[in-house]
Amino acid sequence: MLLQALLRLSAIAALVEALPGKSATKPDDCQEIRIPITVEVPRFLISTSINNDWDAAALTFNLTRRDFGQASFPLPISGTSAPVKSTYEVGATLCGTGATTLVLTHGILESKLYWQPDFIDSDRYNFIKSAVEAGYSVLSYDRIGVAVLEALVAHVRSNNTTTTSALPRKVVLVGHSYGAYISVAAAASNQSRNAVDAVVLTGFAGGFSHFAPFLAGAGLRVARDRQLDRWGALDSGYLTTADLYSDAYIYYHDGDYERRIAEWTHTRGSEPFAVGELPSLLATNITYGAVQAPVQLVQGLYDVSACGGNCTGQVQEFRGNLTGALAVETVEDLPAGHNLNLHLVAPKAFGMMFDFLKRQGL
Ligand SMILES: *[C@@H]1O[C@H](CO)[C@@H](O)[C@H](O)[C@H]1NC(C)=O
Ligand SMILES: *[C@@H]1O[C@H](CO)[C@@H](O)[C@H](O)[C@H]1NC(C)=O
Ligand SMILES: *[C@@H]1O[C@H](CO)[C@@H](O)[C@H](O)[C@H]1NC(C)=O
Ligand SMILES: *[C@@H]1O[C@H](CO)[C@@H](O)[C@H](O)[C@H]1NC(C)=O
Ligand SMILES: *[C@@H]1O[C@H](CO)[C@@H](O)[C@H](O)[C@H]1NC(C)=O
Ligand SMILES: *[C@@H]1O[C@H](CO)[C@@H](O)[C@H](O)[C@H]1NC(C)=O
Ligand SMILES: *[C@@H]1O[C@H](CO)[C@@H](O)[C@H](O)[C@H]1NC(C)=O
Repeated sequence: MLLQALLRLSAIAALVEALPGKSATKPDDCQEIRIPITVEVPRFLISTSINNDWDAAALTFNLTRRDFGQASFPLPISGTSAPVKSTYEVGATLCGTGATTLVLTHGILESKLYWQPDFIDSDRYNFIKSAVEAGYSVLSYDRIGVAVLEALVAHVRSNNTTTTSALPRKVVLVGHSYGAYISVAAAASNQSRNAVDAVVLTGFAGGFSHFAPFLAGAGLRVARDRQLDRWGALDSGYLTTADLYSDAYIYYHDGDYERRIAEWTHTRGSEPFAVGELPSLLATNITYGAVQAPVQLVQGLYDVSACGGNCTGQVQEFRGNLTGALAVETVEDLPAGHNLNLHLVAPKAFGMMFDFLKRQGL
């Protein structure tokens, strides 16, 4: 297949939507909703071709070359299209009854199960349950892209807290990994800047300089060939990790997590990503200085993709880019790898996030 596909951060919807529904065991006060959304944005034209694992290996080499993305070896993007109008029905889970809604955006190779895992004894790792108990409404959805998140923000915002009052809902964006980039990009955008009340970012230190160990360690493979029963219907341009131990390497820090959870990530929690998502992310300019809302960065100390396995100082360095934010708080020393919520420290991390929001009056 020649993936001359039209892809943008916002344009990966159709196949993501087509993946089988993965509803976790839910607190009683959750509902499945479908939100109609129309976006009209230009798309990146991706010029790479993935038919099999040989191509996946060649792509990994390209994406991890020292000079990848520089003039000597540019991104596999041949240009941008004219704005393309797309209509989606975004499947989402809405939990809780609080007037402040946390909108959760998950990372790459993951699904919205990240926020509400469904293995046995998962309560301490359940962000949604904790947030509802702390008084919030929570909207989680299958990540698509920046334009779709902007539309979701507008939708939540316009949904009055009661039918009799026009009090708008407060909106907090909570992102993990790829979802953190999307969240901060939405918070910086002209369309959403004034509609976002706070941003919480995890698995994120701003830059891409540590993407190579993450991508090489993931050992990218064509998803449908690796697990036919789960992903047989997907195009060969959808990739996943090589094996359980690749997931352990990119997501978990030894001694700070339960191994059964890495097994769950591998067999259940993770979902493939479309090959165009990486170059699209790298080609998206985020105007960090335009973010006005208060921002909290909460990091696992041993995060591979965000910090190269040691976050000391990395988050501090990035925070200087948030010149327009009302407040910036950073935590960079929690004993965890990239999947912060699924490490033993999760309850403490959740408590820090809710405490930050309460201090912002949310
Ligand atoms: C890797 O980069 C080379 C040089 O730009 C290109 O010819 C090749 O098609 C790329 N491979 C993949 C799988 O993208
Ligand atoms: C809008 O608010 C009502 C309750 O006021 C709730 O039932 C509904 O699910 C909300 N929808 C969204 C998308 O927030
Ligand atoms: C919110 O309240 C305003 C004013 O009462 C009303 O015009 C608007 O239709 C309401 N929106 C929703 C989504 O209920
Ligand atoms: C956002 O607004 C600013 C100021 O009005 C403008 O300079 C900028 O081009 C806008 N950005 C986009 C992407 O529309
Ligand atoms: C991002 O910024 C660079 C440098 O200013 C520019 O060349 C490029 O076209 C921008 N990309 C997009 C997608 O706007
Ligand atoms: C991380 O690296 C710095 C040096 O860059 C070092 O001072 C610090 O102790 C390291 N952190 C850990 C947890 O080993
Ligand atoms: C912005 O963040 C990058 C790292 O992500 C860092 O190298 C740079 O120093 C930051 N800029 C400022 C002004 O702090």
